[in-house]
Amino acid sequence: MSEIKACLFDLDGVIVDTAKYHYKAWKRLANEKLGFDLTEEQNEQLKGISRMKSLDIMLEMGGLTLSDEKKKEYAAIKNEWYKELIKDMSPDEIFPGVTGFLDELKEKGIRIGLGSASKNAMTIIKALKIEEYFETIIDGHKVTQPKPHPEIFLNGAKELGVSPENCAVFEDAVSGVQSAINGNMYSIGVGSPDVLGEADMVIAGLHEMSFEKLKSLEREM
Ligand code: BG6
Ligand code: MG
Repeated sequence: MSEIKACLFDLDGVIVDTAKYHYKAWKRLANEKLGFDLTEEQNEQLKGISRMKSLDIMLEMGGLTLSDEKKKEYAAIKNEWYKELIKDMSPDEIFPGVTGFLDELKEKGIRIGLGSASKNAMTIIKALKIEEYFETIIDGHKVTQPKPHPEIFLNGAKELGVSPENCAVFEDAVSGVQSAINGNMYSIGVGSPDVLGEADMVIAGLHEMSFEKLKSLEREM
């Protein structure tokens, strides 16, 4: 199969545990404004999905309909709560193994990019002081099609000048894994095999990853 020349990373839930803060803020919105609870299982459907689309999915879960104006207001409230939760983020919140793996990739000449649906991605990357690792950063401000559409990773590949089949994507969201598959890229799920079984490989976190393991995908497929 194709040689892996570039790695594209999702941010929330792959590089740093912001997925838990998104969940906290959505759960609070469900509890305080929408009158229902949001379970962790339901939350899986929101991972990787844009802010407005996430709210639409939640409204559907609760059987609710809101005006566009009200939806904008609630999405803004959720974002304020979320920003409050991430305001003191520091490099020690980077998941174990992340910088070690990024260093190894750099050393081996693998190109590195970031593809996150979040409009807060740049703020987080800066707070974590890992900006210099990424040759390209595609965030929620730069995409029109949400995951599972492959746009976000295809744009990343294009900016790196690497063909999609030579890219590997790291994702904690079902929609993100599907986005990689739809883009004809290698997919590495970060999390549970029960949730991310569609991926070419599933790991618990980047601490389990190495250049050697990455290259094993080329042989297996
Ligand atoms: C994704 C998260 O990375 O970004 C989603 O997995 C989140 O949970 C989405 O809703 C949009 O983030 P933001 O910061 O623009 O609201
Ligand atoms: Mg994610």
